[in-house]
Amino acid sequence: MPPDFRIRLLAPPDYDGVIGICRLVYPAEEPYTPAELDAHRRVFPEGQFVAVAADTGAVAGAHFTLRLRLADYHVDDPWDVLTAGGSFLDHDPAGPTLYGADIMVHPAHQHHGLARVLTDRARDLVRAERLWRMVGASRLPGYAAYAPAMGVEEYVAAVRSGRLSDPALTVHLRDGWAAVRPVRGYLPHDAESAGWAEVIQWVNPDCPPPPELALRADPAGPGG
Ligand SMILES: CC(C)(COP(=O)(O)OP(=O)(O)OC[C@H]1O[C@@H](n2cnc3c(N)ncnc32)[C@H](O)[C@@H]1OP(=O)(O)O)[C@@H](O)C(=O)NCCC(=O)NCCS
Repeated sequence: MPPDFRIRLLAPPDYDGVIGICRLVYPAEEPYTPAELDAHRRVFPEGQFVAVAADTGAVAGAHFTLRLRLADYHVDDPWDVLTAGGSFLDHDPAGPTLYGADIMVHPAHQHHGLARVLTDRARDLVRAERLWRMVGASRLPGYAAYAPAMGVEEYVAAVRSGRLSDPALTVHLRDGWAAVRPVRGYLPHDAESAGWAEVIQWVNPDCPPPPELALRADPAGPGG
């Protein structure tokens, strides 16, 4: 934990701080409304994390999650669909996947490990609830500069190998997420990412997949 900060659950006095960070880090997006932040807390309070300054309580970062049964969705679904328009009202209390809908850190507090500790707190929740995995989609804010010369798969491969560094995907890979595949139109206004994002996941090593997805031995046996 970076000194001078602590992680706790989102509360109404944090809303203005969260909305202020949204405006700074997502200038092209509409920030959350207080009604949406209320909805997050109503459906899944234990999945809404904020990093706050230990002395003033000012919000320095946030990580918002919900539980989903991803079989109900398609891997190409945009953020708006996966989060019910940012309300999280599609939260499924029995969903085996913790969906990382958002992680953001105030520009004045970036590069101090706050994203790392916010991610670790969500990982603790996955372990405590014995969930199967965490899934998210990483923005690719470094990609637009390379898009004229490079396909998105090539860009992600370069970031994975460390040849290129991306301001979001590199952080997520260092925080233990695995890259799955690129998707287009996840955040349609994300010009920095040229409209692309990379689906990422972290599988809980202590918890088996849901029974319907577990590999079963073929009853007919080998060659059957
Ligand atoms: C992506 C984002 C959440 C990362 O937040 P962050 O708190 O800066 O992330 P961390 O500090 O955990 O890690 C970032 C970097 O700081 C480094 N770092 C971590 N702790 C450090 C420390 N104590 N001292 C110096 N550097 C440190 C990390 O190694 C990492 O290095 P890199 O920039 O070379 O990759 C932040 O940049 C952000 O809010 N971006 C805008 C919103 C966004 O795009 N969110 C992601 C949506 S998918």
